Amino acid sequence: MIQTKTYNKEILKTITAGLEQQPKRLPSWLFYDEIGDKIFQAIMRMPTYYLTACEFDIFRNQKDRILNHIMSDEGSFKLVELGAGDGTKTEVLLDHFLKKQTPFTYVPVDVSEAVLAQLATRLSKSLPDLKIHPECKLYNEALEIMKNDTSEKKLILFLGANIGNFSKDEAITFIKKLAVNMNAPDRLLIGFDLKKDPRLIQAAYDDPEGITREFNLNLLGRINREFGGQFDLELFSHYPFYDPETGVTKSFLVSNQEQEVWIDAIEKSIHFDKAEIIHTEVSQKYDLKMINLLSAQSGLEIVDVIYDQKEYFADVVLKLKD
Ligand code: TRP
Repeated sequence: MIQTKTYNKEILKTITAGLEQQPKRLPSWLFYDEIGDKIFQAIMRMPTYYLTACEFDIFRNQKDRILNHIMSDEGSFKLVELGAGDGTKTEVLLDHFLKKQTPFTYVPVDVSEAVLAQLATRLSKSLPDLKIHPECKLYNEALEIMKNDTSEKKLILFLGANIGNFSKDEAITFIKKLAVNMNAPDRLLIGFDLKKDPRLIQAAYDDPEGITREFNLNLLGRINREFGGQFDLELFSHYPFYDPETGVTKSFLVSNQEQEVWIDAIEKSIHFDKAEIIHTEVSQKYDLKMINLLSAQSGLEIVDVIYDQKEYFADVVLKLKD
């Protein structure tokens, strides 16, 4: 057969490695193609996915408190947001910072080109005075661009409990790498989803309307669309599981039956046993003790802990240890 389609080799390598390892595991950044972005936006509007509403509540009610952590008389600053997505929550801060006439440049970083374009278009209309410099990058690549950039102070935002998508150890490694690129006046604001009634957490990842199911399954849909996969989405189910002992939520795709799934781009089939899983996401939930430990082990110091009114979520402001 003559190969006519060109595939993104990097993404293909990631997918192949993930499906050939035992147990099967795909990285969560693969969720966010154009369709995945839209489904995730629907997740963020679900009443059961309390995370987004909680961080909104923090931004609406504590925007001055956040601004005061970075504002000073001289000079402008860079507001770098890792995993900005559609930036709906951040817009509350951007609007406030502009109203306070604080000079800054917004640098949203995201793996999805589509969502960044949507963000830039929306903000150019709603906040025409905003200086914006989007970067389509993975987190690690974003660290590279921050390196050597000491020209301005930085407030780095890592919101929406994105940090939870790392295991605890990966989170330390990542924050250490971030810290290397920070100077004394810089601040890092991390959103942590907190441990709470396990039923509330379980429901956030297993909504009755099946939107989360659709989101998880879209990963297979993406392989079908971009790499000529032949996954039958009806033959896999979505299974999230929260363990209150460790605070880890894991999301899985479970094969409903034994099956072979052909993928054009690798010209072979992947075998699934009945009930075999693909692990697709970790969402680590934290308590204050864990957050203290994480910051200490990463060489940072906590400056402020800002809760939403229900205390389901915390935005934690950090700086380099003195
Ligand atoms: N990063 C989000 C989170 O962990 C993504 C997410 C929401 C998700 N619901 C999901 C990932 C269900 C996989 C399955 O909260």
